[in-house]
Amino acid sequence: QARNEEGKREDSIEKDEWTNVTATIERLTHRKLLSNPAHPLSILRDIIFSKFPEREYTRANFPNPRVSVYENFDSLNFAPDHIGRSKTDTYYLNKHEVLRTHTSAHQVESFRVHPTPGFLVAADVYRRDEIDRTHYPAFHQMEGGRWWSPEGMSSVKEFVAKIEADTAKIPVSGIKIVDDTLPFHDGNPRQDGQSPEVCIALTNHLKRSLERVVGEIFENIADGDPSATKEPLQIRWIDATFPFTSPSWEMEVYWQGDWLELFGCGVTQQRVFEQAGHPERVGWAVGLGLERLAMVLFGIPDIRLFWSEDPRFLEQFTPGVVNAFKPFSKYPGTYRDVAFWLKDGTTPEQFHDNDLMDIVREVAGDLVENVSLIDKFTHPKTKRNSLCYRVLFQSMERTLYNDEINVLQDNIRETLKIKFGVELR
Ligand code: PHE
Repeated sequence: QARNEEGKREDSIEKDEWTNVTATIERLTHRKLLSNPAHPLSILRDIIFSKFPEREYTRANFPNPRVSVYENFDSLNFAPDHIGRSKTDTYYLNKHEVLRTHTSAHQVESFRVHPTPGFLVAADVYRRDEIDRTHYPAFHQMEGGRWWSPEGMSSVKEFVAKIEADTAKIPVSGIKIVDDTLPFHDGNPRQDGQSPEVCIALTNHLKRSLERVVGEIFENIADGDPSATKEPLQIRWIDATFPFTSPSWEMEVYWQGDWLELFGCGVTQQRVFEQAGHPERVGWAVGLGLERLAMVLFGIPDIRLFWSEDPRFLEQFTPGVVNAFKPFSKYPGTYRDVAFWLKDGTTPEQFHDNDLMDIVREVAGDLVENVSLIDKFTHPKTKRNSLCYRVLFQSMERTLYNDEINVLQDNIRETLKIKFGVELR
């Protein structure tokens, strides 16, 4: 039996009147898309992670999406009546446990345990939602955080200088900020008890860090696309509100004619550091949804494709590479096997896959999606060689009828017999 970190059986959910996780959602929690390094979501995660220095930002894994209501909401300063807590928005295992609705559920733990001043987390998250091209009740986020401690500092000035020195180390990004926000104002206030200088220094470190990462990611993509113009990437900062940061912002980038919202971020609420057992610290946090950005960068038209187990989806991607997704038919395919004995004295090596491919292409054209050799053996007595190929018939435009596939299959078999003298099985 699978066990979670506390050694509890993972399926030992004590149900109560709050339980609303369905079997379908439960199944999704076991898919672990991010553990496949060749999945586009993992490729994007790894590219983003690689932009944060490893010695400064610890990478942490939280494979189990089951968290406490405290971790997901209370520790992050969510008001008792916050809409996000409602049963219509959140999947509850029971009154005390939910499927995390965001990776922020791991902020307190991450700020508490790591020896490095920064952390990065990527994980699956769940929210009750309709399903369409851009919405799915399970998706993926990454979280980042960075903190400083004033311990050993003799003045606020010295502390601010330390944060500013770290900001100065961030490589300059080539992006163009077309709209910025004030560091803080009445509608997006600094926290009581945090000096304006510290708030501004944190804001600058946050903005420069994230501008640089975004600039580099989009620059790499544009480099691989010869049609892309070399104009600097345009971004804008927008005021936002989150219970666990203040002030807070969202970043948007201008990409292929539209403003695309990338992430939420802000100066971490002191309450979070208090919960983490480090009330003296200050810092910032960011949370980014991976699907929307991956859809834009890889040209993936439908969020449901990320959950596809179809090799025609999964086999298109390579770790470290952002390539354009090639759409394939959404109409069902049908497999047919073509098996035959080679002419006496012919070895399987003398019959080339391409010989069959050419016949298939001639007979069926675009109605064949794939051909693969699935079996090959030598008869122990007669020493004759047998081959079996599996042909996937599929159309980009319509569902194929069995009758027409049968005609095509017969045609392929007959042509093989005539051209290569094989004995059909
Ligand atoms: N958790 C927030 C969300 O899901 C994003 C966020 C993370 C905002 C960290 C600020 C800081 O929308």
